[in-house]
Order: sequence, then structure tokens, then C-alpha cells
Amino acid sequence: MSVAKRDLEDTRKVTTHRLIEMKQRGEKISMLTAYDFSMAQLIDQAGMDVILVGDSASNVMAGNVTTLPITLDQMIYHGKSVMKAVKRALVVVDLPFGTYQGNSKEALASAIRVMKETHADCIKLEGGSEIRESIERILCAGIPVMGHLGLTPQSINKFGTYTVRAREEAEAQKLIEDAHLLESIGCFAIVLEKIPAALAARVASELTIPIIGIGAGGGVDGQVLVMHDMLGINKGFSPRFLRRYANLAEDITRAVQNYIEDVKTKDFPNEKEQY
Ligand code: KIV
Repeated sequence: MSVAKRDLEDTRKVTTHRLIEMKQRGEKISMLTAYDFSMAQLIDQAGMDVILVGDSASNVMAGNVTTLPITLDQMIYHGKSVMKAVKRALVVVDLPFGTYQGNSKEALASAIRVMKETHADCIKLEGGSEIRESIERILCAGIPVMGHLGLTPQSINKFGTYTVRAREEAEAQKLIEDAHLLESIGCFAIVLEKIPAALAARVASELTIPIIGIGAGGGVDGQVLVMHDMLGINKGFSPRFLRRYANLAEDITRAVQNYIEDVKTKDFPNEKEQY
């Protein structure tokens, strides 16, 4: 039986616990972003394990150059829309830049707002030892936390570039230590973004919690992509790690041009398309 068929037949809600079981039995975890009701419904019904309401909404939904401008209210709006659609997938909402790095009380307040107002299953935030206190406080409130290490787009102004992270020994060592720290304090999973495949595979083999990669090779426990990138809506973005499963930019443009043409030529609506 194909994986997709098996996933569709298994309608049980995906939980953080089930993700750990999937890692234990070597079943890869599928994760994709969604930001609105209609797409979330399609993605959930297709059998996705995890849906991430990513702060990449700042780029692909709001048109910002970075993820930094998106606000907590905007993330909550996207989270609520997605949660209305999803029945099976685990839904993770990103805490946006500036809502958890300041102090742990503020971090907890942000996480509580997300959980209360969206009804999502858990939150994700970027960073390691620097935000330890914030993560611990959120976990103490019973909110599951997914970590995010490697290329952390909220720190783009510090990095100065979106290039591969942790190629150097010191940064790789810090990433390994941070991953162990996140596991030891209770994170249920970690996203590793754009790091060497061998390093990501090492982290995945050393940790018992699932490691979900984006641009981190195949030796991890699951993969995540941004929906607009994998559906080919985002034509200008083609990093090496991206596989496109559709070419919606061309499909949508063609459909819209056909519609314009039909309106202009009075072909639409025809007799059957009116009352
Ligand atoms: O915001 C996002 O879409 C993400 C993924 C790139 C993992 O964090």
C-alpha cells in the first residue's frame, strides 16, 4: 500500500507522541506550510502529518522581504484560518520575531495567545541556548514546543545571508549542543534548516526526538517545505534543496489570461452560464 493511501486511511489525529513513534519505527514525517483555510483543507485531506503555520507567511502571504515584520496578531489570524480546516494533521504555529526573545514572561504570553486564540496543537520558535528560559517557561505551561536551528530566518540581519549554516566546526558544534539542549529541556521535535546533510544526519541519530529537515538532506526523520515553493507559485525562489511538485505560477497565469480573453471576446458567460 502506498504511503499516501495508508495516511488517508489513518484518520486518527496526529499528536506529538505519534511523531516520536514514527521516528522509532523509521517512518518519515511529512510537513508542509499552510496559511489559509482552503489550502490547509486540501493539504490535510491529502494526508500530511504536520502543517506549519510558518512565519514565512510574512514573505509569501504579505509580500515582505523577510519574516521579521509579521506580527503576533497576523500569525494568529493565519493560525485560526488553518485550524478551522484541519482535522488530522498536527498544527504548529510559529511565534514571530520579537514575541519571545525579550524575556520568558513575554514568550509565555505570546505562546498562550497562540494556543487560546488559534486552538493550534503547539508552537515553534527559533534558537538554542539563548532562548532556553523562554522555551522552559512555555513548556512549563503545558505547551509543546518545536525548536528550529541552523538557518533561522528571524536572525537574517545577524547572518547577513541565506547561505548554508554550520559548515564551520565551531558553528556545527554549537548546533549539536543546542539540539541536545532542546531535547533535554523537553522540545518534542526540531526543524534543522539549510545545514550540511552529514551534520543533520548526525543530530537525527543522536537525538530521540524527530528532526525535520529543510535543506538538511535525507538522513533526518522528516521533511518540511514552504507550500508556495513546492507548488511552484514562487517562481523566483529555486534553491538547490527545493523540489517542485507543480508549476502553479504558469497554470494560474494561463487560467487568468484565458478568463480575461473570454470576458473581452464576450465568450464568457455563455447561455448556459446565466439565469
Ligand atoms: O516559516 C516557515 O515556513 C518555516 C519553515 C521554513 C521551516 O519555518
